[in-house]
Amino acid sequence: MDDGRSLNDYNTPMNTLANLNGQILPLAEAKVSVLDRGFLFGDGIYEAMHLAAGRIRFYKEHLARLQRSLAELNLGGVDLERLQQRITATVQAAGLADAFIYIQITRGSAPRRTHAYPDGLIPTELIYVEPFIDPYTEQRSRGIRVITFPDLRWRRCDIKSLNLLGNVLAARAAQDRGANEAILVADDGTWTEATRSSLFGVVDGRLRTGPNSPAILPGVTRGFILRIIRDLGLPHDERHLHRDEASRVAELFLTGTTAEVLPIVQVDDRPIGVGTPGPLTRKLQAAFREYVAKENP
Ligand SMILES: Cc1ncc(COP(=O)(O)O)c(C=O)c1O
Repeated sequence: MDDGRSLNDYNTPMNTLANLNGQILPLAEAKVSVLDRGFLFGDGIYEAMHLAAGRIRFYKEHLARLQRSLAELNLGGVDLERLQQRITATVQAAGLADAFIYIQITRGSAPRRTHAYPDGLIPTELIYVEPFIDPYTEQRSRGIRVITFPDLRWRRCDIKSLNLLGNVLAARAAQDRGANEAILVADDGTWTEATRSSLFGVVDGRLRTGPNSPAILPGVTRGFILRIIRDLGLPHDERHLHRDEASRVAELFLTGTTAEVLPIVQVDDRPIGVGTPGPLTRKLQAAFREYVAKENP
């Protein structure tokens, strides 16, 4: 910084701090080339993490998923040690204990726009750290309304890629209908997941979530909730919910890094169960909270 301002002067939501290829600067001032393949092709990946009371939740799992996304796209040249150092430096510069951390890595810029990428490109690494103001407190307690929407995405949803048009259109459709999220429905009627969260339900007293496959993102929170479900010995199946079962779904909830465990009380104007968050959802919310409280006493 050469303008005499301290980095801490950027410590407001409007002045989110970024780290672009190792340089710390206000997010609004971070610029990349129009030749960047992230801009031209969506050729890149991202991760979103939650810094809570000074610790990044499930840091190891997020880094593992990031590494896997890079590998699946043959996106080389990212030094994970250096990336972690950059994350630490940016968090420290932001001086925040509770933050949303966004990481995006693209394949970088080539001299010309060609679909096939040349070897030897230098990836573009962006990190930004934004104060976390929890928008879900009331929704976690009361539950949310969702719509169903066709799952228009590609066949590698297990990669956390920048190509999010299917998610974007569904999220906007939900917003237009006054709902908070959209359950994505595959051509065969499978409820895969939501636009930015994993999906769980309860049918015939058994918890259900889809198995990890190219049809869904391997949600970090999903993985953790499954661990809790196993530890508590709750009956469950890793099998997708299906549109034909909708009337038998007694409970439904979403999981995600910042949403945590979010009850769904209405789908397409039809109540789920009695229209309030169900007992298994509440149990898992409590278990999640307990874990977090232990981790950050
Ligand atoms: C499509 C999709 N599914 C699920 C999730 C939840 O994943 P996680 O628990 O790792 O935040 C996300 C998060 O961004 C997502 O985009």
